[in-house]
Amino acid sequence: MEPQAASTNPVAWSRKHLLGLEDLSKAEITGILDTADSFLEVSSRSRKKVPTLQGRVVFNLFFENSTRTRTSFDLAAKRLSADTQDFSASVSSLSKGETFIDTARNIEAMGADVMVVRHPTPGAPHLLAQHVQSSIINAGDGAHEHPTQGLLDLMTIRRKKGKVEGLTVGIVGDISHSRVARSNIWGLLKLGARVILCGPPTLVPRSMERLGCEVAHHLDQILPQCDVVNVLRIQLERQQKALFPSIAEYSQLYGMTQERVRRGKDDLLVLAPGPINRGVELTPEVADGPNSAILDQVTNGLAVRMAVLYLLSGRMNARRSTTEEILGDMAATK
Ligand code: NCD
Repeated sequence: MEPQAASTNPVAWSRKHLLGLEDLSKAEITGILDTADSFLEVSSRSRKKVPTLQGRVVFNLFFENSTRTRTSFDLAAKRLSADTQDFSASVSSLSKGETFIDTARNIEAMGADVMVVRHPTPGAPHLLAQHVQSSIINAGDGAHEHPTQGLLDLMTIRRKKGKVEGLTVGIVGDISHSRVARSNIWGLLKLGARVILCGPPTLVPRSMERLGCEVAHHLDQILPQCDVVNVLRIQLERQQKALFPSIAEYSQLYGMTQERVRRGKDDLLVLAPGPINRGVELTPEVADGPNSAILDQVTNGLAVRMAVLYLLSGRMNARRSTTEEILGDMAATK
């Protein structure tokens, strides 16, 4: 499916923070995705920068490890011409007893317009949003939400399939401990997809049906119905005790193999948020095969983060944010 043309409709956006997808409307989510489609064009140019956030300061505050999310936010801010600064919790004065809120207030005093926050505690970015004036973007809070990952997954599905509404999406693996699963669930349901959560009962409790999804424990039974499968990592770092007999057994029952892909729909789309464990959640043949969109997700993630920073900055400037405006910025720097 070919990418859609960027929308030139005004994007309804008046929020100061991006804390999760649970709170966003369908129109807000679609607006971010339309804006991100426009930013993909910037990424394909030889000069990849627009002046939109010139003079603005974006701080990355990561209290947990990250490869993709941190570098992607950093690069997104740079492509919008913002000044970026990394804060590393491990070498900060947190080890001397300074609190999380005091740390953020000091960073704000240096003129941070936006703070991108990843923290192991659910709700940590929401707490900061109540104590600082800067815009807060949640880059993952414990097992709660990871809104830009949810958005980039939606963007990848929309670009590959041309729509989200009416598709059946299987989210496979460690749902209980996954912020990626939660943001995907909210986003997919708002955009009209059918969501089936699949994994061992210890990682996919039946109670999750309350969110509006279906719950299944046999991948081979649900796979033929799926247009998309999003395979999640087993988050051993969040599990207090062994929740399944062995990694080998998990892979046998829930691993995405070439054989399983063959038994699914011809155009089955395979997503994974990364980091991937080759041979556990999916085999190398599937990860690198024609049904996989894992690297498209990374490319789209950059565009999504540019879109989010752009829309929040539009609010800071009290301007109307439209994709036409981005296109104007692009034209000015061509
Ligand atoms: C995810 C995360 O950290 O929540 N990764 C990511 O941001 N791309 C998922 C994971 O760690 O498995």
